[in-house]
Amino acid sequence: MNQKIAVITGATKGIGRAISEKFWLLGYSIAVCARSEADLEQMKKSLSATRPDQEVLTKVCDVSQKNQVGAFAKTIHETWGSVDVLVNNAGTFTPGKLIEEQEGTLLHLLNTNVMSAYWLTRALLPDLRAASNALIVNICSIASMQAYPPGGSYAVSKYALRGLSTTLRDELKEENIKVTSIFPGATWSASWDGVDMPKHRLMLAEDVAMAVTGLLAMSPQAVVEEILLRPQLGDL
Ligand SMILES: NC(=O)c1ccc[n+]([C@@H]2O[C@H](COP(=O)([O-])OP(=O)(O)OC[C@H]3O[C@@H](n4cnc5c(N)ncnc54)[C@H](OP(=O)(O)O)[C@@H]3O)[C@@H](O)[C@H]2O)c1
Repeated sequence: MNQKIAVITGATKGIGRAISEKFWLLGYSIAVCARSEADLEQMKKSLSATRPDQEVLTKVCDVSQKNQVGAFAKTIHETWGSVDVLVNNAGTFTPGKLIEEQEGTLLHLLNTNVMSAYWLTRALLPDLRAASNALIVNICSIASMQAYPPGGSYAVSKYALRGLSTTLRDELKEENIKVTSIFPGATWSASWDGVDMPKHRLMLAEDVAMAVTGLLAMSPQAVVEEILLRPQLGDL
């Protein structure tokens, strides 16, 4: 197949949106998901208007639900049958402490931030194998490396995502499928709405997106295993 395909979860806002737009500008057709149908429609409309030869496949999908992730993968498989890049980006943050937070918080964050990547990667494996030199990118966090207040269950889920990423890299290396973990620090996005913080203290979503598309420049024999990105003035 001539056209290159990128799949991005949680793609209508923030980091996922910036990554999607970068792949779009590079000429990729993209498959994107989020929970809001209106946001997906709006995104499809604005992108399609700029490059009518590329396709935008949108699917309402709550990645914390295995059946919805399976349906997203099925649509991609039936549409293209090949995936060059998979970016497991969708994630959510619930502030709190493990010892105080509401029962069920950890399970919800594990489903949204980790199981989503596990389900989607496994479901798309035949399509990733069908592409030559496919790339999987997992958007982890500084919280994948260090616990911090009020990280609570979020840090547990992001540590697990790093583990999933490292394990996948080892299992898929002989198949020429690369797996990269990205650890962004504080990055401006919808999830920071309402927080009283000078804008220059946070990175831009485009910074993270550039780190992702920069991976495409590597030769097939090199894998960037992990990328750590922090605001210039350090963590908040
Ligand atoms: N921003 C930061 O400072 C920062 C730092 C480190 C790591 N990260 C990680 O980067 C990723 C993106 O974060 P962000 O700050 O860019 O997020 P964001 O601005 O809040 O955007 C989240 C995107 O994901 C979608 N989404 C949320 N929950 C979803 C679900 N259950 N199923 C499907 N889509 C879902 C949202 O759309 P809908 O609401 O319509 O579903 C939206 O498109 C996350 O994994 C986050 O943990 C962020």
